[in-house]
Amino acid sequence: MTGGGDCPGLNAVIRAVVRRAVRDHGDQVVGFLDGWQGLVESRWRDLDVTATRGLLPRGGTMLGTSRTTPGLLDDGLVRAKATYEELGLDAVIVIGGDGTLAAAHRFTLLGARVVGVPKTIDNDVAGTEHTFGFVTAVQIATDLIDRLHTTAESHDRVMVVEVMGRHTGHVAAHAGLAGGATVTLVPEQPFDIEQVCERLQRRHDRGRWASIVVVAEGARPAPGTLDVPEPRLDVWGRPVLMGAGSLVAAEIEARTGFETRVTVLGHVQRGGTPTAYDRVLCSRLGVAAVDAVHEGRLDHMVALRSDRIVAVPLAEVVGREKPLAEEVWEAANVFFS
Ligand code: F6P
Repeated sequence: MTGGGDCPGLNAVIRAVVRRAVRDHGDQVVGFLDGWQGLVESRWRDLDVTATRGLLPRGGTMLGTSRTTPGLLDDGLVRAKATYEELGLDAVIVIGGDGTLAAAHRFTLLGARVVGVPKTIDNDVAGTEHTFGFVTAVQIATDLIDRLHTTAESHDRVMVVEVMGRHTGHVAAHAGLAGGATVTLVPEQPFDIEQVCERLQRRHDRGRWASIVVVAEGARPAPGTLDVPEPRLDVWGRPVLMGAGSLVAAEIEARTGFETRVTVLGHVQRGGTPTAYDRVLCSRLGVAAVDAVHEGRLDHMVALRSDRIVAVPLAEVVGREKPLAEEVWEAANVFFS
């Protein structure tokens, strides 16, 4: 089952699960459609090696996904457990980010056997060094930032680039470093717009001001430095994080007079084919998830640690957002103007 926002590599995990389960363990595999909704409503399809051919490079998820978690539906977990019983499942492999994995952990409290696989371009799941999809998102953002450099240079402009990441700055800091940003703003380090403008001014005073400012969608100003509107909520009650880039761009232009443009990279960061790195990570995670089921390491999540795939208890992972590492932030700072 794949839950939450789509992410490059979901199909590669599905393919790996099916190969390992069917070929090496003689298992029968079904895939639930549209995330937790499929389990709650008993909507599924058979999965075999033929059904999963050609999936490795394909973005999105062949099973569909949704942000539904059983906790948001009346009797959601109980209905999901009824489906589990009705089909006589031995285990469910749940591929998702924190919300999906938290629901997976709750599902085990009803007696379901579950193994999680950490997914999200945001890289904010605790207990694993990387979630799959993150490296692909950083690569996409970096390629696009490279292209924005040429417009910044040709027009002598400030180009503000808003990237995804929700409440963490993993994508922003990595894409900012890889894309040679002049300044990067992340949620973990509330910014002072005056300091940002001073940096751009200093760069301008040195004769070059074609600048790239990478802004994480969750970046926020330090208290008392800038008024920001409250974000609207989506149908799931989550804040819609859009507008940080426009806010920063407008302030830069108003305070410095430098011609400034904003580009919101948006969902393009999680679309399309996974990088080679993510294809390999997804394949390893999918294989390890099936092995975890057979070895009885249930209510666990397979995770990447020191280039090894290990299993960590879901209880140690869910509800704990992984912030950007200080060391990465300090390295990024070295290159700010
Ligand atoms: O969690 C992945 C993510 O792409 C975030 O970076 C972003 O804030 C959010 O999903 C967007 O969600 P949606 O696709 O529901 O608009």
